[in-house]
Amino acid sequence: MHRRARCALLAMLGVVSLLVGAAPAAGEADPPAAAAVDKLPLAPAPPMGWNSWNKFHCNIDENLIKETADAMVSSGMAEAGYEYVNIDDCWMAPERDAEGRLQADPERFPSGIKAIADHVHGLGLKLGIYSSAGTKTCQGLPASLDHEQTDAASFAEWEVDLLKYDNCNNQGVPFLERYTAMAEALLATGRPIVYSITEWGQNQPWEWAGELGHYWRTTGDISDNWGSMVSILDQQVGLEAYSGPHAWNDPDMLEVGNGGMTTEEYRAHMSLWSLLNSPLLAGNDLRSMDDTTRALLTDPDVIAVNQDWGGKQGHKIADDGNQEVWAKPMSDGGVAVVLFNRGSTGAQVSTTVDELGLEPADAYQMFDVWTDTTVVTEHFVRASVPSHGAKMFVVRPGEAAGHEPAVSADVDTDTTGFVDPGVDFTATVSFTNDGLTRVKKASFGLTAADGWAVRPQGATTVKKVAPGETATVSFTVTPPAEESTGTFDLSATVGYRAGPATRQVAGYGSVLIATVPSGEQWVSDLDHLAANVGWRQMGIDKSVQGNPIQINGVTYEKGISPHAASEVTYYLGENCTRFTADVGINDETNGRGSVTFQVLGNDRAVLAETGVILGNQPAEHLDVDVSDVLVLTLITDVGPDNNNSDHSDWAAAKVTCANGDR
Ligand code: GLA
Repeated sequence: MHRRARCALLAMLGVVSLLVGAAPAAGEADPPAAAAVDKLPLAPAPPMGWNSWNKFHCNIDENLIKETADAMVSSGMAEAGYEYVNIDDCWMAPERDAEGRLQADPERFPSGIKAIADHVHGLGLKLGIYSSAGTKTCQGLPASLDHEQTDAASFAEWEVDLLKYDNCNNQGVPFLERYTAMAEALLATGRPIVYSITEWGQNQPWEWAGELGHYWRTTGDISDNWGSMVSILDQQVGLEAYSGPHAWNDPDMLEVGNGGMTTEEYRAHMSLWSLLNSPLLAGNDLRSMDDTTRALLTDPDVIAVNQDWGGKQGHKIADDGNQEVWAKPMSDGGVAVVLFNRGSTGAQVSTTVDELGLEPADAYQMFDVWTDTTVVTEHFVRASVPSHGAKMFVVRPGEAAGHEPAVSADVDTDTTGFVDPGVDFTATVSFTNDGLTRVKKASFGLTAADGWAVRPQGATTVKKVAPGETATVSFTVTPPAEESTGTFDLSATVGYRAGPATRQVAGYGSVLIATVPSGEQWVSDLDHLAANVGWRQMGIDKSVQGNPIQINGVTYEKGISPHAASEVTYYLGENCTRFTADVGINDETNGRGSVTFQVLGNDRAVLAETGVILGNQPAEHLDVDVSDVLVLTLITDVGPDNNNSDHSDWAAAKVTCANGDR
């Protein structure tokens, strides 16, 4: 029977026979038309493995796949739980064989897929493969639309264990039809094959894909940079209700170890993806990874949070713009928590056991999953977190005896956060004891950048810090008179005695030196403080793809083009009065895309915002009072869907400021 007719028939019969799958949250709309698939329960915990795409794109061959499988074992990844070795796009020959079957590329995969499966299985691992629910893959090779049964039969014959099924070249055939056809074809083979639905979040797959497959992409592709990672993170908010055993939200594969982010950024990526119950699919070169990457990917306690049998996805419980708290209930009554600092300066991130939803108790043990230390807190769960970093704990009610108290250090200044070269300011280091026992001999230190003078304003030691107390020591700091613009770290260390032990805790602070805009200035001529964008780099006086800035046929010489979701900040130093811009979507999307624009002032107050702006819509003119604004924040968000084609332009963006220097 033709697949469209079959779907119609099944829908008519109202056939629903679900074994497992994510139920929509109470009050949510019913998912679209029921799919009649007895999905196999193949993913009780989020699948773990590796995929070739992020690092290698089409540069793959059978040696790479076999060597990666070998490395998965020799590196300790397999022991840590990584199991699937997934070949992504570009494994197939440009033509099907005489019988209409997909075949492996004869040059790059001369031994065929079955031989690779044998090698991978011989190591105790599993093999994954890739196709698209379209006429061709995203790289233009033959794909499986209208060949579902033939291709699923080939995958089963080759003893493949997982299929990643993409969305390119889908010819406009309804998504449910395309993804159901492959679900049925896989089932019909009789081989257990994990089904990864790569629909990029276009049609709310969280509402239907759990009935067909084992995990589904919630967004477009990740890339190996901070902006991409946090933009994908933001798109996970609210999806936690749909995820559970055998049906997982997939915020895309890991970039850990690919070189585009710092170690702290990768630690945040790994911490958050684990907390989100994401499938953990490494995307780096396992054959040559360094010890830092290996440690990030294989930490048993981080993985235990991801694989917790209860399968409850973590979610955001607090957000003040730059500091966020994400929490995940664990099946033993504890809560895993990520304290996340997405700001460009170090900051303390704080929550409490009540906010985490923990049962009342006299004391709580805070286990730092990355450092393997356990301390005791009475109420607060907090830590100083470096810029673009994360701390991750599992917090449980527990005995205080035998554990040291939770302490934290912080650095604050008497400035707005911006300082002037050659001008003194005060930095105060605070040290707080959140535990149930006192600590002694706290000794405070502060270091700043090379050439900066740091002088304590008094004694730098404090004899005792009792539970619930905070001790502080202030320092006078002087930046060199000729210091250039930038962000400058202020790093505190507080040494202390907890019982017989000598310990040290770090506090991460920073200040910035920036130039105040003067007179009328194009925003694209200013140095931005930070530019977090959803795709590629922000275009300056050109689009994100290097074209002119052009909205609905009108071309502009000046402007910025940060792909949504984006957040770009500029220092105004309370010296400007107006911000103006023509905002819209660049014509390079050919009418696609949907974006909202927001202008924020001090304390993230919304000074102006647009409704949803679509491709080919005329630019909207913004004219905003920015008097007294210290830092101007320009935000574009993804509109009602995902961030596909969201090429947002702030055309002719300009500030009008008082004249004068700095
Ligand atoms: C799409 C997918 C990616 C990758 C590529 C391969 O972009 O979303 O994850 O599979 O195709 O071409």
